[in-house]
Amino acid sequence: MLTGLQPTGTITLGNYIGAIKQMVEYQEKYKSIIFIADMHAITVPIDSETLANNIRQLVAIYIACGIDPEKNLIFLQSDNEFHANISWMLECNTYFGELSRMTQFKDKSAKNQNFTAGLFTYPALMAADILAYDTHYVPVGIDQKQHVEIARDIAIRFNKKYGDTFVVPEPLIREAGTKIMDLQDPTKKMSKSSESQKGVIRILDDVNTIRKKINSAVTDSVGKVNYDPENQPGIANLINIYTSLTGVSKEEVVEQFADANYGTFKKAVGDVVAEKFEKIQARYNELINSDELDKILDEGMKKSREIAKAKYEMMKNKIGLRR
Ligand code: TYM
Repeated sequence: MLTGLQPTGTITLGNYIGAIKQMVEYQEKYKSIIFIADMHAITVPIDSETLANNIRQLVAIYIACGIDPEKNLIFLQSDNEFHANISWMLECNTYFGELSRMTQFKDKSAKNQNFTAGLFTYPALMAADILAYDTHYVPVGIDQKQHVEIARDIAIRFNKKYGDTFVVPEPLIREAGTKIMDLQDPTKKMSKSSESQKGVIRILDDVNTIRKKINSAVTDSVGKVNYDPENQPGIANLINIYTSLTGVSKEEVVEQFADANYGTFKKAVGDVVAEKFEKIQARYNELINSDELDKILDEGMKKSREIAKAKYEMMKNKIGLRR
């Protein structure tokens, strides 16, 4: 199992529910790899100091959330040059047309006319991340599903052309937390790179801020806690958050809060998030300046290079990049 997060900003409740929390559960069951997708982070403009700080912060957050360095291979993508090398060979087996159809590319390129070539080839680098490690499962939020699917297509195509080389990966997507929405605009995903301050809960926000943000989440005039994403998207989002963090089913939540007003329900959601993040923040503060992080990354660099190098050599040989 493998997944990665981009260090483009302090990670959000959406990233926690969509990716990290699942990794913490699955690490008991699978051989797991979690990395920092810093080379993906430079596909859009980002300040150098900010990026470097975000990288260290993200390693500390992984560990603080319960990703166990004993059970997971943890590394920095840019510490492993084989990802970019493998990506190039995959790009040469990926069609312009299929990359053009990626919805994330369409959205991001529409926002900035001066988008880079890297933003376009981003899914091939993501395929390299996945395919280099014989990954079977990729836990992601629904917004990344299309990218895992293109990685599958590329793997199948490469295997057909050059013989068995890659495991064909599958996305692992949890229903309840597939997409956590912005609290101020519940039709938009909660995103780390978002400018919305009130609508995005960051894992390092202090707990009073978290409670306030949830209390002022946009709802509707229905006034009853129902799971109806179409007509009550704000409440449906809060139900998804509550469900993902407590394990209580949607039906049970609706039943439990049947007679409650929105204020009461919001308070309950705020309590659940605040309690979870308070513990994570305490651990984060112990870790952020420790050498432990560097040791973990050094070890991860060594091990991940060994694995990816073997796949890289195999690909080169099959393609005919040999003397
Ligand atoms: P990124 O950094 O945008 O997001 C990291 C993970 O968080 C999930 N996610 C969400 N889940 C639920 N609700 C949300 N609002 C929300 N926002 C984000 C994402 O689906 C993702 O699982 N391209 C990837 C990083 C990457 C990667 C990989 C992932 C690079 N290589 C290989 C898996 C395998 C990305 O931008 O994620």
